[in-house]
Amino acid sequence: MFETLKALNSDPILGLMASYREDTNPHKIDLGVGVYKDEAGHTPIMECVKRADALHHAAETSKTYVGPPGDPEFNQQMQNLIFGTDHAAIKANRIRTVQAPGGCGALRVGAELINRARPGAALWVSDPTWANHVPLLGDAGLEIKTYPYYDAASQGLKIDAMLAAFGQINARDLVLLHGCCHNPCGVDLNEQHWDAVAALAVQRGFTPFIDLAYLGLGLGLKEDSYGARKLAATVPELVLASSCSKNFGLYRERVGALSIMSANVPEADIVYGQMQNVARGIYSMPPNYGGALVGRILADPVLRKDWDAELTGMRDRINGLRAELAKKFQARLHSNRFDFIPHQRGIFSFLGLNKDQVQTLKSQYSIYMVDSSRINVAGISQQNIDYFCESVCAVL
Ligand code: LMR
Repeated sequence: MFETLKALNSDPILGLMASYREDTNPHKIDLGVGVYKDEAGHTPIMECVKRADALHHAAETSKTYVGPPGDPEFNQQMQNLIFGTDHAAIKANRIRTVQAPGGCGALRVGAELINRARPGAALWVSDPTWANHVPLLGDAGLEIKTYPYYDAASQGLKIDAMLAAFGQINARDLVLLHGCCHNPCGVDLNEQHWDAVAALAVQRGFTPFIDLAYLGLGLGLKEDSYGARKLAATVPELVLASSCSKNFGLYRERVGALSIMSANVPEADIVYGQMQNVARGIYSMPPNYGGALVGRILADPVLRKDWDAELTGMRDRINGLRAELAKKFQARLHSNRFDFIPHQRGIFSFLGLNKDQVQTLKSQYSIYMVDSSRINVAGISQQNIDYFCESVCAVL
């Protein structure tokens, strides 16, 4: 049977990890896969996570199943974190949240559920979007369509074209929006843009599906959740997948959540049962450990404050690097070619290099980035920033 299968190329993002590991150049720089790194190039376990881990082990008395919805404390805390405890939709009891194996698990359960409710529904994704969105969501049966988003010429947003496209979308369609820190381009919607999207969603009747994988790594927790909160206050139904990989540094523990807001409580209850049923049919129930830690951190005022401070440190480091990169490029090139970097958010930006330049950076300078020239800004440090800028200028 397996002789019918064809060999596949390695994943465009994950494949870079292996090539980087094999490279023996002491100056090598990994700007590929989207993980936060500290000044030492390390992806650390957050201090609040270590403390929550110790408390969790001391308190845990059983390894019995938690059930398809996952940890109830985690689910409630995630809902409050994303939407705000006093959000009208939470007060009206219209949101249901289930824990999922990472943001990917949440996206897939959301897509499967949409496909149950509306088989073959069209889901509009930004051009470009995270490469894995297409198989994750499309393989659930949804028809993937694209709307204009990133403007390579200005390294900004095609706002008019995007809103014009939304103005044509059917009521039966869904629109995938990056809640903050757009992956791969780093270009985010501002508050006025979100307001305009919300107005069009009401006018056209389409359903927003938000991917919130980098909450807290853009401008701040409140700022980064503006779009999710605004849409939840404006439209009748909404789907939101969130991840704790980056903001809690829990990548390999696979912690995510799927929140669905329904038009009323009876529908929310039905949706909740369906979400669990979808999960049961794919992986039965999510792993407990990471969600238990996040639930504990968010529920404990001291741990929560420490998490906030650590997250702020990560965010400040990324935004500081963005400003520094622009300055260093200005000084070397005497041009504003890279001035866009500090205006973008989160860990990703496109450098605007072609494939050959990206390839040369890899083969001659051991600098690894995705072929699209997407860099993970957090991979830069005081040790490598000059080498990085010089190398990029050399291939321009
Ligand atoms: C990325 O875009 O690099 C991250 O979201 C990691 C991944 O799984 O692709």
